Amino acid sequence: MKDSKFLRALDLQTNSIPPVWIMRQAGRYLPEYQKIRKNYSNFLDMCKEPKTCAELALQPIERFNLDASILFSDILTIPDALNLGLAFHEGEGPKFSNPISSTDDINNLDAFDLNSLDYVFKAVEETKNLIPTTLPLIGFCGSPWTLAAYSIEGSGSKDFKKTKTFMADNPNALHDFLEILSDACYQYLKQQVLSGVNAIQIFDSWADLLSENELDLFSLRYTKKITQKLKNDPVTEHIPIILFEKNPKKNITDIVFKSLSCISLHWNSDIRILSESLKNDIAIQGNLDPRVLTKSDEIIQEEVRKICSIMKNYPGFIFNLGHGITPDIKPSKVEVMIKAIREDM
Ligand code: CP3
Repeated sequence: MKDSKFLRALDLQTNSIPPVWIMRQAGRYLPEYQKIRKNYSNFLDMCKEPKTCAELALQPIERFNLDASILFSDILTIPDALNLGLAFHEGEGPKFSNPISSTDDINNLDAFDLNSLDYVFKAVEETKNLIPTTLPLIGFCGSPWTLAAYSIEGSGSKDFKKTKTFMADNPNALHDFLEILSDACYQYLKQQVLSGVNAIQIFDSWADLLSENELDLFSLRYTKKITQKLKNDPVTEHIPIILFEKNPKKNITDIVFKSLSCISLHWNSDIRILSESLKNDIAIQGNLDPRVLTKSDEIIQEEVRKICSIMKNYPGFIFNLGHGITPDIKPSKVEVMIKAIREDM
């Protein structure tokens, strides 16, 4: 584990060949995933089976020999544990039967019970037992803001209108809710660490809904609270933390903060400029546009080489996509990408 290229990069060390993993690496683009997924009508039921989660986490490792594994679960397990009634129906995204629609819904929330997420911690243990002992396992959670957006909207959405209206009408109640979510995320991540994860990623997948000011006020402030608590806790003080902000309206250089080990760049970010301003401060992960993987092998190789040559001497570079891989991507294209990174052609 000490020799893990991924953990070395998080420790700002250079690797002659960069480590690579893929956001959403276990998922619908893999036929072996689909085969197991068929046995469940509700995706969440599958997440509640630790042995199945471990098997799913292992699938992309076996296929692509990646440098890190990620826990198989979902960011929405926390709102589900707050009894918002999460389900994933056939062909649709997440849906809450009991979303947050008033300040009373926040005032009357059940207290967060970490034990109700025991299935996640068992999944961490099962995964650690299954994957190679030298392979690091990434734990994760959603940012409080991203979790609040889904909890209020009640589902995914293009513009998150309900969430924006709620934010404008009830900012204080929203802050109360974000506080509850932050504490839940901290407890959740700490227990993932106690169960065996070696690094953490926080997904702020709806950062792009917020203006620059709002991003500070409603998102970064709470993510910072979580990371500071983790840094102040002897159990988690040494765990590297990666933050993914999806296409934020604020400069990345003004977003990064001390308790982070790594910033995961959206594909819209200019990795060349950022690598100059962030050098020696923080590791960088990213940021190939997932759409590139729909193109010809030659274009994939060219785009991979561009990123690798910019980042060649950057202390702490992890190759990844600039957002999650989508179900339409052919696994053979991922293989082309990985071979190009490892210059193994
Ligand atoms: O390898 C992995 O990354 C698997 C673990 C994982 C999943 N979701 C499994 C999953 C992780 C790390 C996530 C994170 C997640 N979940 C995010 C943040 C990352 C990002 O892409 O921004 C978000 C926003 C969610 C919420 C979520 N979960 C949505 C909107 C959906 C439906 C649409 C979609 O992306 O598939 C899910 C379902 C989900 N989570 C699936 C998987 C494999 C597909 C479920 C299915 O098979 O029907």
